[in-house]
Amino acid sequence: MIRPILRYGEQPLHEPAPPVGEITGDIQQLIDDMIDTMYAAPGIGLAAPQVGVALRIFVADVSIGRNPADLLTFINPDVVERGGVQREDEGCLSVPGFNATVSRASRVVVKGLARDGREQVVEGTGLLARCFEHEMDHLDGALFVDRLRGLQKDLILRRIKKLSRTGQW
Ligand code: NI
Repeated sequence: MIRPILRYGEQPLHEPAPPVGEITGDIQQLIDDMIDTMYAAPGIGLAAPQVGVALRIFVADVSIGRNPADLLTFINPDVVERGGVQREDEGCLSVPGFNATVSRASRVVVKGLARDGREQVVEGTGLLARCFEHEMDHLDGALFVDRLRGLQKDLILRRIKKLSRTGQW
């Protein structure tokens, strides 16, 4: 089931999410819905706070459904290694219509639980490393806009405010 995606300004997006206790049937349903929602958007990653659920879960698929092996689900993930730097254009399903160049690590190793409860460690480089850092930020209540500064950030925030005022956000 596709769930509505919250947008910048809605509170669950701006608060750190607590860890998952037990992987129940409700959690499995949430993960299925997050995958449906990510593919429908379409996007390469989605974190639980984006669908209004304050829990440390994200899904990612840099192939957007073309390669089943690329679909990843992480529960209670942690970054255990990061290195290098990349600066690329980045967007977010919770900030539709906007993007900006964001500095990210070029190699990120994430450790956490898969949806079957087993521990998994996945190394991401390039786009997947960027995706990992972006989704980890969501679990800590941060969006890519929060990583910008100065004029670039002000411009996006001003335009979002304007859209909100006219009911278009
Ligand atoms: Ni995002």
